[in-house]
Amino acid sequence: MVSRSWLAFALLASHAFAAQPNAPEPLEAPLRDLKYGQLNFLHTTDTHGWHAGHLLEPSFSADWGDYVDFAARLREKLEGEGRDLLLIDTGDRIEGNGLYDASDPKGLFTFDIFRAQHMDIICSGNHELYQQNSSENEYLITAPAYADSYLASNIDILNPTTGEVVPLAPRYKKFTTRLQGIRIMAFGFLYNFDRNYNNTIVQRVEQTIQEDWFQQAIRDRDIDLFVVIGHSAVRSEEFDMIFRAIRSVQWDTPIQFFGGHYHIRDYHKFDSKSYGLASGRFMETIGFQSIDGLSSKNSANTSPTFFRRFIDNNLYSLYHHSGHNASTFHSERGRNITKAIEEARDALSLDETFGCAKRDLWMSRAKYPSNSSIFSWLEEHVFPGVVNDTRRGDRPRLIISNTGAIRFDIFKGPFTKDSTFIVCPFTSGFHYLKDVPYNRARKLIFLLNRAGEIFETSDPSLAAWKMSPPHQLGIPEDIVVPEQLPPDHPFGNSQTPILGSVDRALTPGYTTVDDAGDDGDDTIHSPISFYRVPNCIQSVVNPRDIDLKDEVVDVVFNEFIQPWILLGLRFLGLNYSDEDVDKYAPDDNMTTLIAKWVRTNWADNC
Ligand SMILES: *[C@@H]1O[C@H](CO)[C@@H](O)[C@H](O)[C@H]1NC(C)=O
Ligand SMILES: *[C@@H]1O[C@H](CO)[C@@H](O)[C@H](O)[C@H]1NC(C)=O
Ligand SMILES: *[C@@H]1O[C@H](CO)[C@@H](O)[C@H](O)[C@H]1NC(C)=O
Ligand SMILES: *[C@@H]1O[C@H](CO)[C@@H](O)[C@H](O)[C@H]1NC(C)=O
Ligand SMILES: *[C@@H]1O[C@H](CO)[C@@H](O)[C@H](O)[C@H]1NC(C)=O
Ligand SMILES: *[C@@H]1O[C@H](CO)[C@@H](O)[C@H](O)[C@H]1NC(C)=O
Ligand SMILES: *[C@@H]1O[C@H](CO)[C@@H](O)[C@H](O)[C@H]1NC(C)=O
Ligand SMILES: *[C@@H]1O[C@H](CO)[C@@H](O)[C@H](O)[C@H]1NC(C)=O
Repeated sequence: MVSRSWLAFALLASHAFAAQPNAPEPLEAPLRDLKYGQLNFLHTTDTHGWHAGHLLEPSFSADWGDYVDFAARLREKLEGEGRDLLLIDTGDRIEGNGLYDASDPKGLFTFDIFRAQHMDIICSGNHELYQQNSSENEYLITAPAYADSYLASNIDILNPTTGEVVPLAPRYKKFTTRLQGIRIMAFGFLYNFDRNYNNTIVQRVEQTIQEDWFQQAIRDRDIDLFVVIGHSAVRSEEFDMIFRAIRSVQWDTPIQFFGGHYHIRDYHKFDSKSYGLASGRFMETIGFQSIDGLSSKNSANTSPTFFRRFIDNNLYSLYHHSGHNASTFHSERGRNITKAIEEARDALSLDETFGCAKRDLWMSRAKYPSNSSIFSWLEEHVFPGVVNDTRRGDRPRLIISNTGAIRFDIFKGPFTKDSTFIVCPFTSGFHYLKDVPYNRARKLIFLLNRAGEIFETSDPSLAAWKMSPPHQLGIPEDIVVPEQLPPDHPFGNSQTPILGSVDRALTPGYTTVDDAGDDGDDTIHSPISFYRVPNCIQSVVNPRDIDLKDEVVDVVFNEFIQPWILLGLRFLGLNYSDEDVDKYAPDDNMTTLIAKWVRTNWADNC
């Protein structure tokens, strides 16, 4: 059902709205409505510190304070009709935006902002576990803030005071919804992540599901619905294993999964009574799921029906779906959160301008290589300009980075302190191997990009796709890519844009295709074309003479890809180990280097 509601727009234009003061106004657009059920869910995932919303994109310009109000308004409406609403977050709340990354210590402001939102089930992502102090924040701040809802089915942590290994949070919980009396068994998993710092232990999902507590929990007969949340793709071995484990002992009980990690909108059907929702990334999307026909205190199990909607996170959509307008939607509580975000952004000087981008530079929306590709820009301009180490002078060098090191596009206009963290939030710096024979080293980039299987064959943890951006991840080998790819579908496999018929009246945006069809997005958009990018890019600096047979080069690479670099060189007959690697430009990392380049090269005012 498409409904056009222009009314709210008139109000928006009067600046009556909350959101951040410098956020763009949302655009009017045709919307598909939500369909409420007995049980309803709102889902966020992979917010990565974007709790201020998107300050350059009208479609995603609402902030966390607006989300708090949206949940409250929707809850009033649903509960007024005797329905239940549950809120879910599936992790990766940190890293990726100045609001989190720019403070010292990181996250100084975001924990209080985030926890202003009530959550019914919440779990950790992989990002929370990369560093000792960020996982300790989960244990000491977030898990206690959500004492009744944080679940860690397969994560343990070294208690920072006692040194004991303890569960990060309870493994599961059983509860009954307030109005419908639906009995739920809930779990909170993390995919088989293996690059956590050694103060946490991520148990592999196949082991966790053998444990007594899990085997008992899934045999509980007094359950109307299983809710499995996890920081994991909804199409993943991990969720499949959990699904099969539950189904093997409860052939008929409905199961609802919530996942993420791949940064995509997706909806996966496991069987007629089991679905999984993935709700995008970076506060672009609020996932809505409803289920009707569950058994409850009021009704016997009929056959459940499932419904999903991907809400563009802007006030136009949020007013519409909650049945409110600018004068009735916002509460003092929501405005306070919006204000707290604004004050934190000010305190961190996130709007401090480093330079002016002359054009949009895209990760996936432009061909690589091209002048509009952020990766071409890095290869041709940034790396040769600033990836330098005085100890190595102007020696010939190959500078290699994985494309996953970049997380977001650069928009034409001011490039701010916030932009540096948004584009590259990773803390790792550059490393290098000195004096590597060029005739071998020059083949490395080819291996990294074209011979991915050999890495995975020799070490299963080194699948080559792990080097590319998450939204491009993971089309399983056994899934056939359809000939006619849906536009903007992240599994697109081609360098040719595939455009649907473009309706000029529509704004470009998500046009999701999933297991339930092509009508999942709340906002009807025209499609955006999408291009795949390689796993890695490379700059060749000072190539004078280096095609001579005995010439050597420095191989400089970002720390994250060191295991692939060493293994790749081994395939090329060069036996290097971690001991041969040294830090390169040790006072910098990709984030500071990009900032340096922008200050020097884009210095003029916009
Ligand atoms: C963790 O420690 C690093 C290095 O001291 C620091 O830069 C960072 O802000 C800390 N992060 C958190 C979440 O405390
Ligand atoms: C964890 O790694 C650090 C080095 O990063 C090491 O010093 C420490 O001994 C390790 N701890 C355990 C329990 O392995
Ligand atoms: C907003 O909604 C309220 C309640 O439905 C209504 O009374 C009011 O007139 C609306 N305001 C505007 C400006 O439309
Ligand atoms: C909002 O902030 C003001 C000023 O700090 C405070 O007095 C008020 O109690 C807050 N209101 C809510 C609902 O949190
Ligand atoms: C790309 O940029 C280069 C150098 O600035 C210029 O010569 C070339 O014409 C540009 N190409 C396109 C397609 O814009
Ligand atoms: C990098 O090193 C080269 C050669 O020493 C030098 O010409 C260039 O100015 C340096 N660039 C920066 C940004 O330091
Ligand atoms: C990069 O290095 C700088 C300087 O050492 C540090 O302040 C910053 O936190 C690092 N970047 C990230 C994203 O951690
Ligand atoms: C590689 O080097 C290490 C020592 O640096 C040595 O122990 C190992 O045998 C070497 N492997 C090969 C295949 O040459």
